[in-house]
Amino acid sequence: MRLFRAFSVITAVLVCGLVVAGARASAQGQAQQPPPGGRQGGAPAAPTNLKVLPKDIARPALTTMMRGYTSALGVMCNHCHVEDMAQRAADDNPKKDIARKMITMTMELNKQLDAIGTPGTADAPKVTCFTCHRGAIKPATAAEIK
Ligand code: HEC
Ligand code: HEC
Repeated sequence: MRLFRAFSVITAVLVCGLVVAGARASAQGQAQQPPPGGRQGGAPAAPTNLKVLPKDIARPALTTMMRGYTSALGVMCNHCHVEDMAQRAADDNPKKDIARKMITMTMELNKQLDAIGTPGTADAPKVTCFTCHRGAIKPATAAEIK
């Protein structure tokens, strides 16, 4: 009798273990499913609202560029984007459109500079956001008088 009880306890523990393992497996299965409109198979979703940058830009290049903007202006992503990290495509922050005009202006400046220097060479003149902003939202327009 005692032996039988011990056996049924062991069986119960084993069954519980299987149920827990089964629940874990199905939880993992759910985690692997891509969330709607989000990442698929670990790869970030392609950008959907590019108006001035090349639409086929690779995601790592886009991310590097965005990080460049934050350091060039000394701001966080949400200076130009809305707070919600998942809504980077939204245009509700007016700074984003200012930034688009800045990107276009910078591209135009570089086109004009191509006519002055030798495009593609290391010493070719090049303008970036940092050229003017130098880590500040408002670029300095005059030298500090010492
Ligand atoms: C100075 C403003 C500015 C900052 C700071 C900035 N972004 Fe952007 N971001 C833009 C602009 C402008 C666009 C749209 C470019 C276009 O229209 O071609 C954009 C587009 C994007 C997109 C593509 C969205 C889509 O689906 O179309 C992603 C993703 C993104 N930014 C992420 C980031 C992240 C992450 C950071 C912080 C590391 C960041 N951005 C910082 C201005 C900014
Ligand atoms: C030729 C100089 C120059 C370059 C290059 C430049 N900017 Fe600007 N930017 C300015 C000036 C000047 C202002 C206006 C600052 C002010 O007085 O409010 C400004 C303002 C801005 C603002 C609005 C800031 C705020 O919150 O009021 C954003 C955003 C911006 N620039 C993004 C960029 C980005 C992104 C780049 C690179 C793609 C860039 N800028 C390149 C000169 C420049």
